[in-house]
Amino acid sequence: MKMSKTVFKEPPYNCKRCPRLSKFLKELRVSHPDYHNGPVQSFGDPDPRLLIIGLAPGMHGANRTARPFTGDWAGDLLYSSLAKFGMSNDSYDARADDGLELKGVQITNAVRCLPPQNKPIGAECTACRPYLTDQIKSLKRLKAIMTLGKISHDNTIRALGLKLKDYPFGHNKSYNVSDKITLISSYHCSRYNTNTKRLTEEMFHGVFQNLKDAIEA
Ligand code: URA
Repeated sequence: MKMSKTVFKEPPYNCKRCPRLSKFLKELRVSHPDYHNGPVQSFGDPDPRLLIIGLAPGMHGANRTARPFTGDWAGDLLYSSLAKFGMSNDSYDARADDGLELKGVQITNAVRCLPPQNKPIGAECTACRPYLTDQIKSLKRLKAIMTLGKISHDNTIRALGLKLKDYPFGHNKSYNVSDKITLISSYHCSRYNTNTKRLTEEMFHGVFQNLKDAIEA
């Protein structure tokens, strides 16, 4: 990817790129008026060394609190891991006003709006991808990317202008995706994956150790 100067803008609250998602969020504004119900903006260090890319906001988590992984099951493991590796001030309390600060880390999602059943369709991934491309281009100090799950991984590879066949998804698989950036993929830290032990805390921490090594190299 050519690292030209890019000013990154998050999607507007009333983004209409995905008809199915904007209709879904419109309905939720009626049924859950106290929820955010819009694209969830990235959170963390504005000039990070590590970018973490999830799948999409969860219904009662990020879609409610307006902060990625906040109030979602997956956030408990993600934010405790960030604290363990010295990448936050360790004040995560599942609320957007919990005073949490990330150190050198920014978190975003491949698809920024809540999809029904937590499953974005291909056209929604494609429609949201330019945000990811511009975001990565704009982060000049970036040294590492962590992708959570195959959809996030595949989207990120495409956002970087690379071919999936050259960068297949694998847990804790590491790729040099540019002369500066290492990408490491992980199983998503979802309730399903952690309950079934497809992903254990130890495995997740193993990925963080490799990310830390890549950042400090
Ligand atoms: N919450 C998010 O913001 N992203 C995910 O991928 C899962 C939960």
